Formats: sequence, structure tokens, C-alpha cells
Amino acid sequence: MSYDAQFRVWRGDIEGGELKDYTVEVKEGEVVLDIIHRLQQTQTPDLAVRWNCKAGKCGSCSAEINGRPRLLCMTRMSTFEETDVITVTPMRTFPVMRDLVTDVSFNYKKAREIPSFTPPPNLKPGEYRMQQVDVERSQEFRKCIECFLCQNTCHVVRDHEENKESFAGPRYLMRIAELEMHPLDVADRRNDAQEEHGLGLCNITKCCTEVCPEHIKITDNALIPMKERVADKKYDPIVWLGNKLFRR
Ligand code: SF4
Ligand code: F3S
Ligand code: FES
Repeated sequence: MSYDAQFRVWRGDIEGGELKDYTVEVKEGEVVLDIIHRLQQTQTPDLAVRWNCKAGKCGSCSAEINGRPRLLCMTRMSTFEETDVITVTPMRTFPVMRDLVTDVSFNYKKAREIPSFTPPPNLKPGEYRMQQVDVERSQEFRKCIECFLCQNTCHVVRDHEENKESFAGPRYLMRIAELEMHPLDVADRRNDAQEEHGLGLCNITKCCTEVCPEHIKITDNALIPMKERVADKKYDPIVWLGNKLFRR
């Protein structure tokens, strides 16, 4: 069983562009990425789209479908009515390169700004001991496929280019939280999270969590605990006294 669907796809580059209308065949069991590929094969061989695994694991095919940040390869055509017009646009937060492909280098820059895992200096490989609960906490965060849908969605940067310099975004604030909560990491990341990576700009709207294709509880399990740790440090009377004495 197949039918013809109406697609509106953004075509253009950094100079500008527009939505273009296409009628394209849809077959049973297909996902939106299949339809984009059929468009390339039959009507628009120059349509640019980034993809790799077609299995929701490489994080390459992020875009917006009817305005919602989604993976093209994990969005089934059966979630739409046959009469729906389906609009596919590039991620809004990052500069367009061409058509559905954006320049996501903002994220690589933010990743590089976070100091790596810092175990105690004398600890040798094989001497690491962790509780299962700590292993599981890290494992949840490590399911991240770096699709950057959360980074694209967060309102702090989505329409505020001016915040990009001072805000790492949910994916990298989660990385800081992962390291801060790691029992073997000896670096104190709380001050940097707040002062250098913009943790205070997050007002826990949870939009990042809603779009995560790996269903990582970014806000509840990473951002809120990190905010609590920052607050504990700030309002801890012993830390407060230490700061006072140190400043004298
Ligand atoms: Fe994508 Fe989720 Fe990782 Fe964000 S945390 S980059 S939404 S997988
Ligand atoms: Fe943005 Fe997520 Fe915080 S959407 S405001 S980082 S909870
Ligand atoms: Fe790899 Fe969609 S193509 S996540």
C-alpha cells in the first residue's frame, strides 16, 4: 500500500531560502528520512541532508518536522495522516549550510571547553572502585548520541544568538554534572558550571528532556542536581566563612 504525501522542505543556504512543495510517494513502514531519500532519487538530486545510521544511533539526521525537533530516521510516516502536509526544516539554532544541513560546530566548541575527567593523581588503572548506583548514573548520561536536538531546542539559545558565548547548553551542562557527580573526579566543577558555562541561565523548562531521543532525564537527573550542588556550595556556612577569610 502506498500513497502520495505532500512535503514542504526548506531549500537554501546561509544567504537565505524558502519552503518548496513536493508530492512524493510513501510506502508502508517508512520513516521521514526514507521520503527525503526518495525525493533525492526522483526529484531533487541536490537536496542536502546529513544522515548515517538510519537507526537512531549516530545523531546525524536531526531536523525539525512540523516545527518539532526530531530525528528524521526515527519519525515514522504512520504518525501522520495521509492528508497532512509535512514540513521539514533544518535545526533553527545553528547556521544553515545547505538545505537540511546545519553547522553544529557550536557544540564541538562547547565540548572542548569542559576539562576532562580528573581522577586522583596517584590512582592507577585497576584501582578504580565504584558503586553500581554511580555506574548507572553515568551510563544514563552516556547514552547521549550527540544529536544536538536538546541544544537546538533550549530557549536560552534558540532565539538568542547573544547567549551562545556564555551558555554550554543542556548536553554539555549534563556532561559537567556527570563529571561532578563521578565519585573519582576530584575537580570542583561547580563554580565553572555557574560562571563559565551558564548553568544559571537554565530555568528548568525541561524542553531539552522532551526532545531527547534517548529519553535521558537531562533536567531531573543532571541539571537540577547540578544546580543543587552549586547552591549547597554558595550557602554552605563553612564555605561562606572560608571565602570571607580568604578574601581578607
Ligand atoms: Fe541528543 Fe539527548 Fe544527547 Fe541532547 S542529551 S544531544 S537530545 S541524545
Ligand atoms: Fe534549556 Fe533544558 Fe534548562 S531546555 S532552560 S537547558 S531545562
Ligand atoms: Fe543516524 Fe538518524 S541517521 S540517527
